[in-house]
Amino acid sequence: TGTDHPTTTVSGAAGGLARAPDVRLAGGQPTRLEEEPTVSDLSDRSDHTAQEFPPDPAFTEQAVGQAELFDQADADLEGFWADQARTYVSWSKDFTQVLDWSDAPFATWFADGELNVAHNCVDRHVEAGNGERVAIHFEGAEGDTQTITYAELQRRVCQAANALTELGVAKGDRVAIYLPMIPEAIVSMLACARLGAPHSVVFGGFSADAIRSRIADAEARVVITADGQYRKGKPAPLKAAVDQAVSGEDSPIEHVLVVRRTGADVEWSDKDVWWHDLVDRQSDRHEAQPMAAEHPLYILYTSGTTGKPKGILHTSGGYLTQTAYTNAVVHDLHPETDVYWCTADIGWVTGHSYLVYGPLANGATQVVYEGTPDYPHQGRWWEIIQKYGVTILYTAPTAIRTCMKWGAEIPQKFDLSSLRVLGSVGEPINPEAWLWYRKNIGGDRCPIVDTWWQTETGAIMISPLPGVTSLEPGSAQRPIPGISAEILDDAGEPFTEAEKVGYLVLTKPWPSMLRGIWGDPERYKDTYWSRFGEKYYFAGDGAKYDADGNIWLLGRVDDVMNVSGHRLSTAEIESALVSHPSVAEAAVVGAADDTTGQAVCAFVILREGAQQSDSTVEELRSHVAKEISPIAKPKSVMIVTELPKTRSGKIMRRLLKDVAEGREIGDSTTLTDASVMDFIKQGMSQD
Ligand code: WT7
Repeated sequence: TGTDHPTTTVSGAAGGLARAPDVRLAGGQPTRLEEEPTVSDLSDRSDHTAQEFPPDPAFTEQAVGQAELFDQADADLEGFWADQARTYVSWSKDFTQVLDWSDAPFATWFADGELNVAHNCVDRHVEAGNGERVAIHFEGAEGDTQTITYAELQRRVCQAANALTELGVAKGDRVAIYLPMIPEAIVSMLACARLGAPHSVVFGGFSADAIRSRIADAEARVVITADGQYRKGKPAPLKAAVDQAVSGEDSPIEHVLVVRRTGADVEWSDKDVWWHDLVDRQSDRHEAQPMAAEHPLYILYTSGTTGKPKGILHTSGGYLTQTAYTNAVVHDLHPETDVYWCTADIGWVTGHSYLVYGPLANGATQVVYEGTPDYPHQGRWWEIIQKYGVTILYTAPTAIRTCMKWGAEIPQKFDLSSLRVLGSVGEPINPEAWLWYRKNIGGDRCPIVDTWWQTETGAIMISPLPGVTSLEPGSAQRPIPGISAEILDDAGEPFTEAEKVGYLVLTKPWPSMLRGIWGDPERYKDTYWSRFGEKYYFAGDGAKYDADGNIWLLGRVDDVMNVSGHRLSTAEIESALVSHPSVAEAAVVGAADDTTGQAVCAFVILREGAQQSDSTVEELRSHVAKEISPIAKPKSVMIVTELPKTRSGKIMRRLLKDVAEGREIGDSTTLTDASVMDFIKQGMSQD
C-alpha cells in the first residue's frame, strides 16, 4: 500500500541547521507558500499503444448503453436527463422542472419532484416481486459470509431507521458513520437516506482528529461505529478513535451506536448503545416518507488545496438518476443476470455511488468484500470472482498494478470466465496495466471502461461505453451521453489540437453535480467556478487530446495528490508535519510511483534545537499517520536545511518533485546533501 517503505534522510544535523522561519500561524496551520499550479510539469503520458479494441457485435447487441444516447443528449439535453430520471428512479411525485441554472453555479435538478432514495434502492424491488433476489453476497474478512436478499435488506433498513428515530434522529439531522465494510455500513447509509438524515461517512482508516473535525463541521448528532475491525486476520481497534473524537463538552454527538464486529473489549460511556440491543428489537416495518429532489442525501469530505477538507454535498433526485444511469450504461449492468463487484470502500465516493446508491437503485446483485486482496493469499479476489461468478468488476489501477507485480500466474489458477466487463477508476491507468488487466483478468474478451469522475461530480463523467466505443488503452476517451467537457489553455480558451496539454473543464451542469461545500458557498464558487470564469467547472485535472480526439487525463494540477486512488492534500500533510514539535517547516509533493500512482514525499526543516536521531524520520511518518491516516503516511521524509523558494518566499514544489522523482525513492540509495542542495540552489537562481 506504499505506506511501509524504507526512508531516505538527506542533510542532517552534521552541517548545523539553518535558521528556519516559523511558518506556523496562531491556529497551527502552516502558511501556504507555493507557486500557482500549472500544467507545465505534468507528464505528457506519451505511452500510447498502437492497439485499439473495437466492440464485439455480440456485446453491442445486448448492451444497455447504445450509440443513440449520444444523439438524444445532443438533441435535447434536459429532455435526455428527464428521460433518465424517469427510467432509473421512481418518483412519488413526478417533476415538471428539469434543470434550474438561474442561480449558477448553484443548480437544482427535478426540483419539484419527490422521492425517497432508500425506497428506490430497496422497497421498490421488493414491491416489484424481486424480494428474493440477492442484493448482497457479503464476504467477511474472516471467511464469514451472509446472503442478503432485497426483502432482508428492507427489514434491516427499516429496523435501523426505527432505531435512529428512537435516538432522536429526524429529517435534516446529520449522522456520522465510521464503520468497516460490513452490511451494517450499507444498512446505516440507507436508513439515513430513508429518514432524510444526511450521512457523513468517514473512512475507517481516518484518525480521531479527522473524525472530530468532520463531526464538528457537519454538526452530527449521532455516530455509528463498531467495536473493532479485522485487518489481515487480526482484530484492530475502531471505537477508540470515535471515543476520542466525541470526548469533551463541545462534541455535538449525543449517541454512539456500536456494532459488535470483533468482540473486542471496548470502553463504554453513557453515550454508547449497542446496535444489537437497540436495532434488533425494532419493528422491521417503516414507512418511507418522500423527500424533495434537492433534499441533502450526504456530505462526504475530500481533500482540497488547503488543509481543511471540503464537505462535498450531494442531494437526492439528480444524484440517484446519474449514479443509476451510469452504473447501467457504463458497467452494462443487467440486474437480473449480472453479479457485480465494486472493490471500493464505502468511505470513498466510489463506494457511495457504485456500491450503495447506483447498484441498489438498479436492483443489482453484488459482492461486498470486507477484506484485503492479499489475505489469506494473493489470489483472494480471483477466488471470490470464481465463487460468486462475478460478471462485472470495478476496481482501481493501483490494485491492478499490485496484482501485476504479484504475477499473472496467481489469477490464472482461478476460473474468471464469468467476467464480461471490467472497470477502472480513481487515477489514470497506464496502457501497460490496462493491457495486463484485459489479458489476465478479462481473458482478452472483456471491454475495459476507464471511468473519470470525482467526489464532486458524484458519478461517472468521462468513460467509454462498452459495446459502443472502440477502446484505446490508457485513455478515458469521451464524455458519456449527457456530459460536456472541454480542454482549455492557460488563457482559458478551448482547443482541440492533439497532444497539447491543458485544463479539463466541464461546460454544462449535470444531475449528480455537487450542490456545494457544506457551510461554505464562497469556497464552492472559488474552487470550481472561478479559475476560468463562471462558465466552466474547473476539475483540477490536466488533460490532452490524442489524434483521434480521445481525452487523456494527466493528473492533478493543484496541490492534491492521488495515492492509490486516494485523494490527499499536500497542505493537510504539511499541516500535520508542522504540528510536530520538532518541525519548523514542511513541504510535501506527490512523486510518481510505479504502483501507487503517486507517493507522498515530504521535505522537512527541523526546528532549531530539535534533536535529530535515527528515529526522527520514522517518528514524523508515524505522526502523520496518527494525525490524518495511515494512507497519508509519507513514503519518504527528507530532512533538509533549506527549501527552494522564489524571492517572494513561495516554495518551488516543481523542484522538490524533481528531487523526489529523480531517484529511486524507497531503496537505500540516499540522496546526498549536496545533490539536493544543488537542485535547490539551481532552483533559487532561476527565480
Ligand atoms: C480525482 C478525483 C472517481 C472516484 C474516485 C476518486 C482522479 C479519478 C480517474 C481516471 C484519471 C482519474 C482525477 C480526479 N481520477 N478517476 N479514470 N483517470 N484520473 O475520486 O477522490 O474525488 O478524486 O481522481 O485526478 O480529479 P476523488
